[in-house]
Formats: sequence, structure tokens, C-alpha cells
Amino acid sequence: MKGLILAGGTGSRLRPITHTGPKQLIPVANKPVLEYAVEDLRAAGITDVGVVLGHKGREAIQSFLGDGSAYGVDVTYIVQGNPLGLAHAAGCAREFVGDDDFVMYLGDNLLNRGVGELVEHFESGDYAAAIALQHVDDPGAFGIAEVDEAGDVRRLVEKPDDPPSDLALIGIYVFSPAVFDAIEELEPSWRGELEITDAIQSLLDDGLAISSHVVEGWWKDTGKPGDVLEANRLVLEDLDPADDGTVEDGAETTGRIDMHEGAVVESGAVVRGPVSLGAGVAVEEGAYVGPYTSVGAGSTVASTHVENSVIIGDADIDASGRIVDSLVGSGATITSADEVLPDGQRLVVGENSDIKL
Ligand code: G1P
Repeated sequence: MKGLILAGGTGSRLRPITHTGPKQLIPVANKPVLEYAVEDLRAAGITDVGVVLGHKGREAIQSFLGDGSAYGVDVTYIVQGNPLGLAHAAGCAREFVGDDDFVMYLGDNLLNRGVGELVEHFESGDYAAAIALQHVDDPGAFGIAEVDEAGDVRRLVEKPDDPPSDLALIGIYVFSPAVFDAIEELEPSWRGELEITDAIQSLLDDGLAISSHVVEGWWKDTGKPGDVLEANRLVLEDLDPADDGTVEDGAETTGRIDMHEGAVVESGAVVRGPVSLGAGVAVEEGAYVGPYTSVGAGSTVASTHVENSVIIGDADIDASGRIVDSLVGSGATITSADEVLPDGQRLVVGENSDIKL
């Protein structure tokens, strides 16, 4: 069994954060989303991993994963070129996959319980594919499956107007190489993409069996800022914290605090977990870092109240106000405009930013 992580895409819904880096490298609890996918594959015993790259963020992803050895896997890069859909991305990996079965994992997805159970389902019968499903409130926004009582798939439809169920394809699939012939026959969908959902439907039309598994535990697609915050909250909730930083005398800390090397909570600062502080982070006197916050490596938080937020890294935050429910990009500076006239907010706002004052 091989692994295939799709790490292309433009990250348009995460602009301006994705103007400078791919969405798959956005950290959740101080670990890039992509690393969770690699860990899930490895935990299922899959170490031969293809990573499909788009135009954007290619170098950043390659320099992060390297040859994969630092993460216990062997990585092969596959360049997709033009992003023509998930099925197109999978099709680019035909040579890499060869005659093996493979798990396909969307690189911006996070799963609480990994891929092991789905692989077991696939291997329990003579299946051409297995799909991971979860009940959703908005089935029109996903690929939707109709399944029988045994969990075998009857029909699939991408972003249906009239959903046959609320069971969404969550972006984790197991395939036999039969999928490649199905992909070659596909026509672009109404949104101009080669849909993996259509490829699986065509396997069904050919009389092949597709198994499904309703994933327990949470699943998050980190495509939008609110999703990143939610994923961060979920991961922090059951994180096994690192203990490599320093809490000075006179600092107040409660709850689980994940502290990476060189992180320091200074005297007079308050940190209430669950919180993750990346390498070299300083929480200075007068600052408060509250639950469900991850502060990325090299950042400083002084005299500010930060809660339920993700600070990506190398940020300098020294403002008297409260920062909540926020996603702060790498290298950002947030300071106070107090005592500066005229009174008002002073902003340098990146393209496609979303700011609530
Ligand atoms: C894609 C798939 C869809 C699936 C979803 C999961 O949608 O086409 O079937 O339900 O991922 O996140 P997209 O994110 O391209 O709209």
C-alpha cells in the first residue's frame, strides 16, 4: 500500500495567509497540517508516500518534507502543473503508484482517528475503492454518498442540489489502480474539474464494489480561517504537551501548556491552557494567552490578551487590546495606537484580508 498526499491548490480562501506560503504548511498546535497527514499514513504502516504539488508553494513543501526521512517515510514528489481537479491530481501519480493500492489523503485535512480503519475496510473484501464518510449539516457543499446497510456504496454525487443523504466524502480514499483507467475517461464537471467523485461513480458503473466507512472522531478541512481555528482547538484539546520551555517564578499558568524549546512565560504573564507555545516564544509581563491559542515559533506577546487564536510565527504582538478568534500571519506586527493622535486604528492590511474592528 502506498500513500498519496495532494498538496496543490491555491489556498484562495485563506488569503492573505496563503500569499506567502501553501495552506498545507499552516501550523495547527505548532505543527503544519501536512505533517499530520504524513503521520497518519505512517501510523497505518504506509511509508512510500507520493506528494502531489501544484504551482504554488512547491519549494516550501519540498524544503519542509525533504526526502521524508525526518518523518519516517520515503517521499516522491509529483508535479501536477495546472490544477484541474482532484482526479487530475491523482492521475498524475499513475507512474508512482504502479500496480499498488494506495491511500489518497487531501493534504489540508486533519483527522482525529487516522486512516487505519479505512484501510482495514478496504482490505476486508474485494473492493476497487474505500471512501471515508462523515455526517454533515450542509451536504450541498461536498461529494455525497448513498450507501446500503452493509456500508457498500450505491451512488455518489458531487455537490448535489438534492442530496441523497448527509454522508459526505471527507477527502480520504483508498484506491486500487483500477481508478486510473476511470480517471482517463473523465470529462470536466460543471466547475471545470476532473472530479474524484465521478471517477469512483464510474467504478461503480463498471460493477466494481466500493466500501465506505463513517469516520468517528472529528475531521476538519482547514480550507478557511475559521476551520484552522477549530482544528487548532480540537488538536489542543487532546495534545500530549511538550515540556521544553521555562515558566518563570511569578508567572501564572494553568491547564495544559505545550512548550517548545526556549519558550518562556515571564514573571507577571498569565497563560491558561490548552495553549501551545512554539520554540523561542516569549510571553512577557502583563500579557495573557488564553485557551485554544497556538503561538508560533519566534513570536513575542507583550501586554496583550490573546485567546482562541493561531499566531503563525515570528510575530510581535504588543498592544493593549484583546485579540480573539484571529489568525495572524508570519512576521506580523501588532502594536498599540494608544496615545498617538489622531485616535484610530492604524492598519497595513494584506490583499483579501478579513478584519473586524
Ligand atoms: C473536495 C471533493 C468533495 C469532498 C471534499 C472534502 O471538494 O470534491 O467530494 O467532499 O473535497 O473536503 P472541494 O474541496 O474541492 O470543493
